Amino acid sequence: MALLKTTRLISSVGSHSSALGVLPIRASSWWSDVQMGPPDPILGVTEAFKKDSNPKKMNLGVGAYRDDNGKPYVLSCVRKAEALIMGKGLDKEYLPIGGLGDFSKACAVLALGPKNEVLQSGRSITVQTISGTGSLRIGGNFLSRFHTAARDIYLPKPSWGNHTPIFRDAGLELKAYRYYDPNTCGFDFKGALDDISKIPEKSMILLHACAHNPTGVDPRPEQWKELSAVIKKRNLLVFFDMAYQGFASGDIDRDAWAVRHFIEEGHNIVLSQSFAKNMGLYGERVGGFTVVCKDAEEAKRVESQLKILIRPIYSNPPMNGARIASTILTTPDLYAEWLQEVHTMANRIIKMREMLVANLKKNGSSHNWQHVIDQIGMFCFTGLKPEQVARLSNEFSIYMTKDGRISMAGVSSGNVGYLAEGIHAVTK
Ligand code: LMR
Repeated sequence: MALLKTTRLISSVGSHSSALGVLPIRASSWWSDVQMGPPDPILGVTEAFKKDSNPKKMNLGVGAYRDDNGKPYVLSCVRKAEALIMGKGLDKEYLPIGGLGDFSKACAVLALGPKNEVLQSGRSITVQTISGTGSLRIGGNFLSRFHTAARDIYLPKPSWGNHTPIFRDAGLELKAYRYYDPNTCGFDFKGALDDISKIPEKSMILLHACAHNPTGVDPRPEQWKELSAVIKKRNLLVFFDMAYQGFASGDIDRDAWAVRHFIEEGHNIVLSQSFAKNMGLYGERVGGFTVVCKDAEEAKRVESQLKILIRPIYSNPPMNGARIASTILTTPDLYAEWLQEVHTMANRIIKMREMLVANLKKNGSSHNWQHVIDQIGMFCFTGLKPEQVARLSNEFSIYMTKDGRISMAGVSSGNVGYLAEGIHAVTK
C-alpha cells in the first residue's frame, strides 16, 4: 500500500520513473536545506511593480532614467555610436582580461580630467569592469587580498543597498560613519567628521563621489576639503564610488570635483565608475575600476594582480558596451552631443523635483518639502516611513524602496500629480 502511494505521488508530480515505476528518485534533494531568500531591496521592487495591473502604477524603485513619457531612454549619441561600430564590421574576439584599452583610457580621462598628473605620469591603472557593481566587487576583492593592513571598510550611513553585500562577500568587515541627518534631511557634516576622525588608521572608507545614493545629499566643496584633510590625517584608504558622473549637476567636470580634489591632495584613491546612468547603458554593463598608485612601476604590478583576480571570475569583460562608450568618449561630435544629453537628463530630474513640491503644495500639504528640491541626482530621500511606503504601494500602486527613496528619474509631467496626491494622502 505504501509502495502504491509513493508510485502515485511520483507520477502525479510528473517525475520520470524507472521501468517498474516505483523507484523513489525524488525522495531526497541536494538543496532541501536551502532557505527561501528575501527579494532584492531595490530590484525586488520592480518585480512587485510588474505584477500590479493598475494602469496608474509607478515604479520609482530602481534608478533608471525615463523620458517625460515614462519610457526608457536610449541616448541619441549611443544610437549614433552603435551605427558607427556596426559600419566597421569589427570581430568578436575575446577582449584582453582588463578589457578594451581605448575604453579604459577614456574612462580614466573622464574621471580624472585629461591633464591630470596621475595620467600623465602613468601612475594609475584602469580596467574595464562589469558596470559599477562589478567594479566595486573587483575593488573589494583587490582590497581584501592586498590591503592587509586593515579589514574594515567604513560606509556612509545609509549607503547604496548593494555596497554591504558586495564588500561583505569580498571578505571585508563592514563599518559605518554618520552621513545623513534625518532632522534636516541633509548632510550630517559634524557627525561625519566626528566619526571619521575616530576611524582606526589604514582602514578603508567609501565615499560617493556625487549624487549620493540613496539620499541625494552631497557635501559642498568646502566640506569635501575638510573631509579630505581629516581622512588624510587618519591615513585612510579612500574608495570613491562614482556611478552618477554628470547626473548630479548636469556637468561631468563639476561632478568629478571631489575625486580630483582628493587626488590633488595626495590621496592615492581607488575608484569605481559606471556608465549605466550617464550613458543609459544599463544592460550593457560598462564600468571601470582605477587604482591610483605611487608610480608607474607600482601601477604595472597592480595591473598584473587585477588580471589575476579577474581571470577566474569572468575571464574578460563583454565588448559591446565598452565599444559604445569609448566611441562616444573619443569622437568629438558624439562627445559634445553626450554632454548635452547628460545635461538634459539631469535638468529634467531637477524640474521634476520642483513640480513634485509644487503639486504637494497644490494638494494642500503643509509639510516642508524643501529637501526634495535641495537633494541632487537621481534619487530623493523623501523621509517617508516604511508604513507610508507600504500604503503608497498598496493603495496607489506607487512603488519605491522601503527606506522612502524615490527615483526621480521615474517621475514625469504626466504622473507627478498622481505621485503628489499619493504622498499627500499618506502624510497628512
Ligand atoms: C539603484 O540604486 O537603483 C541603482 O544603482 C540600480 C541598482 O542596481 O541597484
